[in-house]
Amino acid sequence: MENFLKIDGLTKERLLEAAQAALQQAYAPYSQIRVGAAVLADSGHIYAGSNVENSSYSLTVCAERNAIFHALAHGEKHFLALAVVTDSEQVKSPCGACRQVMAEFAPQLPVVFTNPQGTWVFNLSELLPQAFSLKADLDA
Ligand code: THU
Repeated sequence: MENFLKIDGLTKERLLEAAQAALQQAYAPYSQIRVGAAVLADSGHIYAGSNVENSSYSLTVCAERNAIFHALAHGEKHFLALAVVTDSEQVKSPCGACRQVMAEFAPQLPVVFTNPQGTWVFNLSELLPQAFSLKADLDA
């Protein structure tokens, strides 16, 4: 299952550490579920994000999307791996909206997911088979 995680062990550790640090910054007063995410860009840089909730619940943005948008704001569009860390056993994999956002940039993205029960490595192609996509030139 780890076959498609082609990054080295140290980079995986750095990615998980960045996600864990982002978890500490989660703004989750309503669900009390804290999530941190970090994405590794092909530049080698790591960008983190945490979940941000709102009194108007549906405005909540997940950690995964905030990490990817953080990277995009720095001009990154090509991603090698994404790590997610949560303190809730209820959260077992990224939500559908985040899967769709990941698919925009990296349809084969390896996703390392950690909750209090363990760590799993998924490939986005198994999390979101038959993904919807319009052919986009990412570098246009
Ligand atoms: N959440 C994430 O940040 N990522 C996920 O993959 C699933 C859910 C957040 C959104 C919300 O703040 C809380 O977890 C409960 O859904």
